[in-house]
Amino acid sequence: MLDLPSLAALSIVAVLCLSLLVFQIVTGVPPMPSSESEAADVVALLKQASLPQQAVVYELGSGWGSLVIALAKAFPDAQIRGIEMSPLPYWVARLRTRNIANVSLRRANFYVCDLQDAHAVTCYLMIKPMPKLAALLDGMLKPGTAVVSLTFWFRGREVAASRQGPGLRGAAALYFWPAHKAGEGT
Ligand SMILES: C[S@@+](CC[C@H](N)C(=O)[O-])C[C@H]1O[C@@H](n2cnc3c(N)ncnc32)[C@H](O)[C@@H]1O
Repeated sequence: MLDLPSLAALSIVAVLCLSLLVFQIVTGVPPMPSSESEAADVVALLKQASLPQQAVVYELGSGWGSLVIALAKAFPDAQIRGIEMSPLPYWVARLRTRNIANVSLRRANFYVCDLQDAHAVTCYLMIKPMPKLAALLDGMLKPGTAVVSLTFWFRGREVAASRQGPGLRGAAALYFWPAHKAGEGT
């Protein structure tokens, strides 16, 4: 038989694990963190984009905080704003970034967030949300805003630069939004 404190601890762990599953079903995206080399590729592409020194960078679906931490280190004068819906990764990221002055995290659905002051946007999602995200960015971003997507690319948009890391891991792509191909859309 478990004593009361052990039962309470076990219940909390079970609820947190269940929340991971529930939010993965809701968003359609698992909370898979980017690796160090993937984050390094995102950073390298953003360096190519010549952001202003005090750039505002949104990390859409910031998960456990791996990419926001890499971005904050690489761009110490920029404001890195992570948005994450799933509570467990969000709170772990809050803990990991508590001493990083240029990171702020928000627990929210990024589809209902205001991104208009972005100089850059990063994401590491899945195939399914990419068209909906493209439509959101079309209505939200200033022309020329840098967008870097890891592994899952925007269909039909012009890639300005890309980086393919080692092994089977995904490649990262840089776009200057809205990144319409010549002769297509406006
Ligand atoms: C593959 S993880 C990437 C984590 C992080 N960007 C990184 O590179 O380490 C994707 C995250 O996006 C979050 N997510 C997906 N859709 C979202 C939405 N609409 N609003 C907020 N977060 C979302 C998921 O909960 C998940 O934690």
